[in-house]
Amino acid sequence: MKEYTDYPILKYNTFGMDVKASRFVEYSSVDELRAFLLSVDKNQPILHIGGGSNLLFISDFRGIILHSAIKGFTVEDETDEWIDINAGAGEVWDDFVEYSVSHGWYGAENLSIIPGEVGASAVQNIGAYGVEAKDIIHKVHTVCVADASERVFSNEECTYSYRESIFKGELKGRYVVTHVTYRLSKLPCYHLSYGNISSELERRGLEPSLQNVRNVIIDVRRSKLPEPSELGNAGSFFMNPMVTVSKYNELSSLYPDMPHYPIDDNTVKIPAGWMIDRCGWKGRNIGPAGVYQKQALVLVNLGGATGSDITNLADEIIKSVKDKFGVEIRPEVNYIY
Ligand code: EPU
Repeated sequence: MKEYTDYPILKYNTFGMDVKASRFVEYSSVDELRAFLLSVDKNQPILHIGGGSNLLFISDFRGIILHSAIKGFTVEDETDEWIDINAGAGEVWDDFVEYSVSHGWYGAENLSIIPGEVGASAVQNIGAYGVEAKDIIHKVHTVCVADASERVFSNEECTYSYRESIFKGELKGRYVVTHVTYRLSKLPCYHLSYGNISSELERRGLEPSLQNVRNVIIDVRRSKLPEPSELGNAGSFFMNPMVTVSKYNELSSLYPDMPHYPIDDNTVKIPAGWMIDRCGWKGRNIGPAGVYQKQALVLVNLGGATGSDITNLADEIIKSVKDKFGVEIRPEVNYIY
């Protein structure tokens, strides 16, 4: 186990906030984590982080930051049709995607180059291009913070929905994910209908294959989203809001070109990025906090921004979307005080 005090966490958050944690603890096995949880004084804030790609630190963190260095991919079970891969929570998410694609297993390829780690994929239910982590998560292995007991959650027990899980909701901060078992298909099955993935394959004269889909998704993401090493950011800053069908009808009569995704008979998802763009925010900034010029859903650190600079900008954006469209948008990024 590695342990540091007054530890700079600049390289542990993709927004590039230059803050410190009173204590930073990195463990590399379930036993180390359990021993730590049994010995630590829990009357202090404990925050578990992954790749820090969905966090916004507003100030120094006066507590303990925990980080998993549990690694490894192992085959847990398989049939002719599927394979269960157990991945350590501290593995880089895209290393898992690359590993799956290189072995010819289907399911993770649309989630290529999403920043972050395996553990966070199960907490955050990361998603892109018509696929969410919940579609391939079979089991989530955890340790209870209160008593260090081990517990395995089935997919159903994680109560997944869009960017939500029991680990972000009801059980927030109460379990640490140590491993995730993903069930991948050995039989070809592609999800190409979202956005321009199939047209991009056609344009390049490529047949769908795991590697071709991965390559297209990598290129599309790189063309729209900033590299955190070049411009601090946490991907989509806001979630796409769900509205009622009657609200959608009202908006679509005013804005016939508004993109939308029907969710069920009563609900429609509207892209927050489109609304923010229509409010004129794209490429604008308030001091060192900016709206990315190629994708209005992404807020960026133009250099030296503090957490408050970013939240001030976010608050202004939320207000203008509310004023123009009457829709409440919410941050997807977690604010850490
Ligand atoms: N749009 C605009 N202007 C903008 C941004 C978007 O008009 O500045 C329009 C686009 O033209 C498109 C629609 O809004 O018609 C949706 O945009 P896009 O396909 O880029 O997707 P998104 O809704 O902005 C979501 C996820 C992304 C994921 C993409 C692709 C959320 C909050 N975000 O973005 O996830 O990569 O779909 O599946 O659901 C992330 O979570 O960090 C992330 C990047």
